[in-house]
Amino acid sequence: MRLPQAQVALLEAASATDAKTIEQLAAETDLKPETVTRAAFDLRDEGLVAVDERVEESATLTDEGETYRSEGLPEVRLFRAARDAGGDVGMGEAIGAAGLEGPEVDIALANYARKGYGVVDSGQVSANDDADPDDDDEAAALDALAAGEAVDDAALLDRLESRGLVELDERTVRSVTLTDDGVDALMAGVETAETVDRLTPELLTSGEWADVEFAEYNVEADAPAVEGGREHVLRGMSERVKDVLVGMGFQEMDGPHADADFWINDCLFMPQDHPARTHWDRFALDVPPVADLPEGLVDRVEAAHRDGVGEDGDGYHSPWSEDFARAIALRGHTTSLSMRYLSGYADADLEPPKRYFSVQKAYRNDTLDATHLLEFYQIEGWVMAEDLSVRDLMGTFEEFYRQFGIEEIRFKPHYNPYTEPSFELFGEHPETGEEIEIGNSGMFRDEVLDPLGIDCDVMAWGLALERLAMLTTGAEDIRDLHGTLADLEFLRNAEVTY
Ligand code: PHE
Repeated sequence: MRLPQAQVALLEAASATDAKTIEQLAAETDLKPETVTRAAFDLRDEGLVAVDERVEESATLTDEGETYRSEGLPEVRLFRAARDAGGDVGMGEAIGAAGLEGPEVDIALANYARKGYGVVDSGQVSANDDADPDDDDEAAALDALAAGEAVDDAALLDRLESRGLVELDERTVRSVTLTDDGVDALMAGVETAETVDRLTPELLTSGEWADVEFAEYNVEADAPAVEGGREHVLRGMSERVKDVLVGMGFQEMDGPHADADFWINDCLFMPQDHPARTHWDRFALDVPPVADLPEGLVDRVEAAHRDGVGEDGDGYHSPWSEDFARAIALRGHTTSLSMRYLSGYADADLEPPKRYFSVQKAYRNDTLDATHLLEFYQIEGWVMAEDLSVRDLMGTFEEFYRQFGIEEIRFKPHYNPYTEPSFELFGEHPETGEEIEIGNSGMFRDEVLDPLGIDCDVMAWGLALERLAMLTTGAEDIRDLHGTLADLEFLRNAEVTY
């Protein structure tokens, strides 16, 4: 019989009477364990060996287990101390004599009576005459495990595991024995067949491929799981969102994460004493203020804040300081980019109709919870055109969200200092059925548009990318997606419908 080399080696090393493990066979044949495993399964399929599989619990000592193995279990030390002191001593004395420290004291007391060493009562420790610390099964098990011996008592191992002294692990142990057919084959003689495991250009051109024997692949063999790289769910979402918006005729905006408050807030007619502009909500940066702001625009924005715009406009009648406008913070929304573009500062002056978007990070000093992160991605966007209405705004969202399989979105009236009317958007979570807020939107008011020199309508929005991802992946906690608490298992396996 002709067999591949590994199979011949395995057949010769295996025995009909003495089951040998894969590890033993690997050592005897000088082959890798995975090679032996593969050969064993191939030989089994030919009926030449039997492979027996059983699950073995392996136990290893933890650091704490190792400490108690060398220094003695706390309860054993307490017993010896109490016995050496006459069998009935004050607790403080016994603890001191046993040299127990910190948590060891509680551990000793918790296990003392349970293991029949005696009683701890009213500050006295008694030692039972007939208890024998040399007979302690837990101590013996620790010694045995440290010496690499097996401990078969499952209940004992469970107790040691719950005490945190050993770690239990399961592994599959395979052992191989020769079958009668295997013995016969060996007696009749086996030879090594030339096998190739890869078809090469040389084999093809020489024509040799027709004569060689190809190694068979066992596609069911155990193999270590290889966790390949994968595009992050949020990156995938972000790319898809960009594609969708470009498909809807939008152009992309870009701009700084740390920006002058002027672009983040003042242009948006956010009063300088608005709560969102205090240190509670924003991340101010201790860096020199921005020097280059467009002069005319600064004046017009200040005028809008002080006096409002138009015939019967009215301003905030609250302080407005240019220094405050020039101070730099991490942007709390990406609407700062919309201001840079709509003002013509980022690019050229824009003529309607125009549509712009960005998918970028915004930063807020929020409290982390299942729906809030301190930094998150906003899908910012706006449309500038003559005669826009709320219907256009709603229609745009419906068209956008439909691309992600979200048919049902709800609009609730809202307030923003910079839009009128304003709407919050809600979607239903596929797992919990809860309504979650997915965005905020509105028509920019004249107090915003007038200083920018725009005399047509602009509808605008900021949508949360992570919330969209929650709806499409079913993630119930935004922290699973992003940040130090991210759920790697989820990110690895999440089914994403984009
Ligand atoms: N800036 C708003 C937010 O962060 C979103 C928004 C942008 C609302 C533009 C209306 C217009 O919630």
